[in-house]
Amino acid sequence: MNKSDAYNLKYHITPPYGLLNDPNGLAFFKGQYHVFHQWNPGGTEHRNKCWGHAVSSDLVHWHRKGIALEPSEWYDKDGIYSGGGAVHNDKLYLFYTGNVVRADGVKESYQCAAVSEDGESFYKMGPLFEHPTGYTRHVRDPKVWKDQRGNWWLIVGAQREDLTGDTLVYKSEDLSSWTCLGSFLEHDDAFGFMWECPDVLQFLENDVFVFSPQGLSEAGENYKNPNQSGYITGKITETGKFEGKLSEFKELDRGFDFYAPQSFEAGGRTIMFGWMSAMTEEAERAVPTVQEGWIHALTLPREIEWTDGVLVQKPLRELQSLRLDGIQGDIQQNDVWLLPSLQAELIIRFSKLAGNFRMVVRDTVQIEYDREHNSLTVWRTNWLTNEQEYRKAVLTHRLSELQMFIESSSLEVFVNEGEEVFSLRYFLEDIVQRSVLLEAGGNEGKVSIYQLQE
Ligand code: FRU
Repeated sequence: MNKSDAYNLKYHITPPYGLLNDPNGLAFFKGQYHVFHQWNPGGTEHRNKCWGHAVSSDLVHWHRKGIALEPSEWYDKDGIYSGGGAVHNDKLYLFYTGNVVRADGVKESYQCAAVSEDGESFYKMGPLFEHPTGYTRHVRDPKVWKDQRGNWWLIVGAQREDLTGDTLVYKSEDLSSWTCLGSFLEHDDAFGFMWECPDVLQFLENDVFVFSPQGLSEAGENYKNPNQSGYITGKITETGKFEGKLSEFKELDRGFDFYAPQSFEAGGRTIMFGWMSAMTEEAERAVPTVQEGWIHALTLPREIEWTDGVLVQKPLRELQSLRLDGIQGDIQQNDVWLLPSLQAELIIRFSKLAGNFRMVVRDTVQIEYDREHNSLTVWRTNWLTNEQEYRKAVLTHRLSELQMFIESSSLEVFVNEGEEVFSLRYFLEDIVQRSVLLEAGGNEGKVSIYQLQE
């Protein structure tokens, strides 16, 4: 069945059919950007996981390559789960978790590698190492990087036998023989029951440890999604330990739909993609695209910077090349703007902040700024319960800019040039509804709206 215009995403990476989840194996190799992703080409449920593959020369326009890795061996026969990529000696290495369900029903996982010389066909190298004792079978999502001294490091999400989340760290000199150095972030207290998709971002001043803990309880405005993705700041020691405080864990994205992000470095930049979903299985089943035989998308690529002591996430600057016609104007008190198409970018730059501010995108997603508390709240209609639900972030700086990437069924809101991001899906059958209502509340500024290339 074809994807309908009401829901299809044109400038995001989506599966041609089937189910997409985590971004995997991100790499720049032989002049091309490679994005792999978890993919069930056979249906919209979470099973039969393969790695889908898309390549690009500009990180904006993508060409699909089909399946890069699929279950075929005893060590990955029930799923090629998530992992990262690495380029070494002119070869592209992919690290992944082989998922196995034995004949007696017992489940096992193996950390594996595959290698390619052309970035198209991959040769499986098999399992890399055994897991240490003290952990359950939930060990997955290897991510690999090289340090300044030429050592390779691998971290992998894990669950301790006491059913608490952890991350294991391994070291190697040649990408094939690995030594386990124990827990990456030593901690006694429980922080969720499993840590998925660990990652490391390295900046001059700091290292950042990103992971997706499952099972955190909601706390105030935090941890409202079924599972979280966030980071802590610290330093990696020479012995492969991350020195940082779990109590400083901060969510990467404040929206409803963001999970399992992965980063890579290219041309001196740190670029991240996430999976634009943090839905329960029940909510997934009710997503209208399931009727069209596909579900989910990756987020747009973001550039991650460390600026003035904080992590900042900006939409990749190359995305500006998607801009077609634009319209500009002043914010009026109560104003309705029309999106030129269902693929649009909208930027509001405030010059004077005098009061609250409210906007409604396509008569369905509401964004409210509360000046007294300096907080931004995004509301959407939950498509399962039909009720309004919200996510909220208290800003560090006064609201100065909102930059939004709007597609027929997705919205990414970058606040104050990357201080916070809200990513979400919404579903509206009516493709004619393109209004954006602005209630300026005495605030002044400029609005720019661009039609984006499909
Ligand atoms: C995260 C995750 C990973 C796993 C993959 C399976 O969304 O559960 O931990 O490798 O998805 O598709």
